[in-house]
Amino acid sequence: MPTLHRTALPAQPISQDVLREKYAKGDEREAADVFRRVARALAAAEVPEQRATWEAGFLAALEGGFIPAGRILSAAGTTLEATLINCFVQPVGDAIAEDDDGHPGIYTALTEAAETMRRGGGVGYDFSRIRPRGARVRSTQSSASGPVSYMRVFDRSCETVESAGARRGAQMAVLRCDHPDIEEFIHAKDAGDLRNFNLSVGITDAFMQAVQADAEVELLHRAEPGDAQKADGAHPRGDGLWVYRRVPARALWDQIMRATYDHAEPGVLFLDRINADNNLGYCEAIAATNPCAEQPLPPYGCCCLGSIDLTRFVRQPFEADARFDEAAFDALIPTCVRMLDNVLDVSIWPLPRQREEAMAKRRIGLGFTGLGDALAMLGLRYDEEPARQMAARIAERLRDGAYAASAELARERGAFALFNADLYLQRGRFAARLPAALRERIRRHGLRNSHLLSIAPTGTISLAFADNASNGIEPPFSWTYQRKKRMADGTFREFAVEDHAWRLFRHLHGPEAPLPPAFVTALEMSAQSHAAMVSAVAPFVDTSISKTVNVPADYPYAAFQDLYLQAWQSGLKGLATYRPNAVLGAVLSVPQPA
Ligand code: CDP
Repeated sequence: MPTLHRTALPAQPISQDVLREKYAKGDEREAADVFRRVARALAAAEVPEQRATWEAGFLAALEGGFIPAGRILSAAGTTLEATLINCFVQPVGDAIAEDDDGHPGIYTALTEAAETMRRGGGVGYDFSRIRPRGARVRSTQSSASGPVSYMRVFDRSCETVESAGARRGAQMAVLRCDHPDIEEFIHAKDAGDLRNFNLSVGITDAFMQAVQADAEVELLHRAEPGDAQKADGAHPRGDGLWVYRRVPARALWDQIMRATYDHAEPGVLFLDRINADNNLGYCEAIAATNPCAEQPLPPYGCCCLGSIDLTRFVRQPFEADARFDEAAFDALIPTCVRMLDNVLDVSIWPLPRQREEAMAKRRIGLGFTGLGDALAMLGLRYDEEPARQMAARIAERLRDGAYAASAELARERGAFALFNADLYLQRGRFAARLPAALRERIRRHGLRNSHLLSIAPTGTISLAFADNASNGIEPPFSWTYQRKKRMADGTFREFAVEDHAWRLFRHLHGPEAPLPPAFVTALEMSAQSHAAMVSAVAPFVDTSISKTVNVPADYPYAAFQDLYLQAWQSGLKGLATYRPNAVLGAVLSVPQPA
């Protein structure tokens, strides 16, 4: 059911180019060709006698605004031996051999990461298990080199491994705020190093409370009895943890904030919040996220992502009676959930453990894209309260529709293996906040997927499949810009890139009509407005949201720190900001795959 306004616009040359370079295979030329292949590939998970029916249903969903994540569009139904999963979290142990929790030794982890990236998946890691720099390595009587030094090895490996399907590898490195090497980690990118990593500090509530109370915190590391980690006077605390140093929490917090203020990294993850909210808190612990942070994941966890293009549901755009077609939006959701559930069954898995993990929990992440444009089309300014209310309403509908669809799927196909109704719906968890009728349905039928929602950056798919609608939850970045692109033959070509809502407005109202007040870009609104949109939507998302809070260059440092404090206090799972700076330049290039 393509809507009239979309079909009225001819495709932009840049969209055609990205589509052909990254997604189209063989003689495919248009989005419709890609959609046919993907619909057929995902219908293969259905029982044979219903495949044709589902294939037609999936095709209608794709034509109606559902955009599966890039890996699905690029690899489903092709002969590429690539995964359909955009990204993973991989565990890294401290030793050469696997440890008791199943964390592989460092070089096994490196091999696993290389295999994952070779098949097209990005990887996030928690490096906190690696013993600190200078700690003693008993078996060889040598001194440990510490997590940051190993990160350089992972960085080089990522750069070297050719990723499947014309995509550069992306990585996330997390280190806990109480790891003895945390300061080295905070400054690891000061000199522009580690280009294949995003960095995030894993922050605990205890740490934030110490910041507030101006108390000291211990920097510590776990060591097995007898496995002496003595360095610079480290002493055992008696619970398996060795204390290396005590530092004022505020001094450490200030270093994190300074680095982030100066060059936009590290980001922060609020680990306790992530784990308290996690539906599966009863059977997994989360210490890391995928590279753009919209999915906190356990070891070997995967992101099976897809986004609904919200601009497709705006009726009478820019008119006084513009409205969001909730009925059509709701109707699309169950098919999206089913398609992502099918992705788990038809995908190649780089590692057997990734497959086992996915089969036990069947995590998927359905989200939206084009929010900023959809709001402009509805006449709502992104940085005003009515826009936030609309976004929250859409997110709530998405949540309820997705959970209901997954309960329905469980009735048909069975619940995910680790489902336990009492534990799943336990107080405090995300699922416990679902409406009562939905919880009742989940008790009765179970749930097919442990997690259902995620707001991804949609860096490439939005350009290729949504006429460059604004990315994910972001406001539009600019209405038009020139993009220089290297072509297959090595020459460069300039493309004029236009925002979808802007194009549509120009198409409907002509080149001279003044832009309505709802047209507001990322750099024209306050940092608080960016953060407020995340806060409005976050309560309805069971995993997380990829969002960059844009901060003006002259933003006071104290106010900047406040943004982070408020994020923690309001229960967000993390925060990433961008302030124009000398290292990275003035303009944020939105998460730019490849
Ligand atoms: O547009 P597309 O579906 O390809 O991807 P996205 O929504 O921009 O990114 C979704 C996730 O894919 C990111 O959070 C990353 O974890 C992962 N990704 C990656 O691993 N490597 C890239 N070059 C781009 C994205």
